[in-house]
Amino acid sequence: MTMAYVDTPVIWDIDVDFIEGSITAIIGPNGAGKSTLLKGMMGLMKPLTGTTRFWGKRYEDVREKIAYVPQTESVNWDFPITVLDVVMMGQYGNKGVFHRISKKEKEMAYDALTQMKMEKFADRHIADLSGGQKQRVFIARAINQNADIYIMDEPLAGVDKNTEHIIMEKFKEFQKHGKTIIVVHHDMNTLIDYFDHVVVIDKVVKGQGKCSEVFKNTTPMEWMARRR
Ligand SMILES: Nc1ncnc2c1ncn2[C@@H]1O[C@H](COP(=O)(O)OP(=O)(O)OP(=O)(O)O)[C@@H](O)[C@H]1O
Ligand SMILES: [Mg+2]
Repeated sequence: MTMAYVDTPVIWDIDVDFIEGSITAIIGPNGAGKSTLLKGMMGLMKPLTGTTRFWGKRYEDVREKIAYVPQTESVNWDFPITVLDVVMMGQYGNKGVFHRISKKEKEMAYDALTQMKMEKFADRHIADLSGGQKQRVFIARAINQNADIYIMDEPLAGVDKNTEHIIMEKFKEFQKHGKTIIVVHHDMNTLIDYFDHVVVIDKVVKGQGKCSEVFKNTTPMEWMARRR
């Protein structure tokens, strides 16, 4: 896949496979094109060349099976919507925003919030949460969608260690249930602990595969430094 905002491509010939059931980190420096790659995969931006397939199918045909959480600062929450509403959006999918919400749907959303220890904030306006709290709400929404693939752009950015722990435990649990997790990550120190697969990009693919193979005999930090 090659993608551009203006004329010059910001990512070139990106050819990556994500392994079903893996927990994969996408890493690379600021401006490397990580978020752009996800936008291309999710059909939010049209690539110059290339396509993405999920189980051989187009995104539009499997969208309810895929949960996507964009990078927090890219979301504008000026319109009035509560935390519980945001989580319920995970279920709307094809039903549209204006269908009648059932008691059951509300309970499920509340349960997802509880799993992320955010139930106390259910009625609060989403804009009035801290960055880390917002991040937990987005993950609750993804839980509520009950997807098979979770694609998240820097879910650990700006969150404290406790929130990081809650989020990573949730990802591990997803993985135990056979789900696939794809996460843009920037902390080289936790990479090996948290992820089993990695995709390294910096405008082009610099490496991909199992962490144990890509970083054989070295650390992620050294590996990255050598390829700068
Ligand atoms: N809306 C836009 N218009 C023009 N250029 C953009 C736009 N969004 C991103 N870019 C450029 O595309 C390149 C890749 O950006 P992208 O956001 O994908 O990087 P990233 O790897 O996600 O970085 P970060 O780690 O900072 O989130 C950068 O050079 C950036 O300046
Ligand atoms: Mg980004």
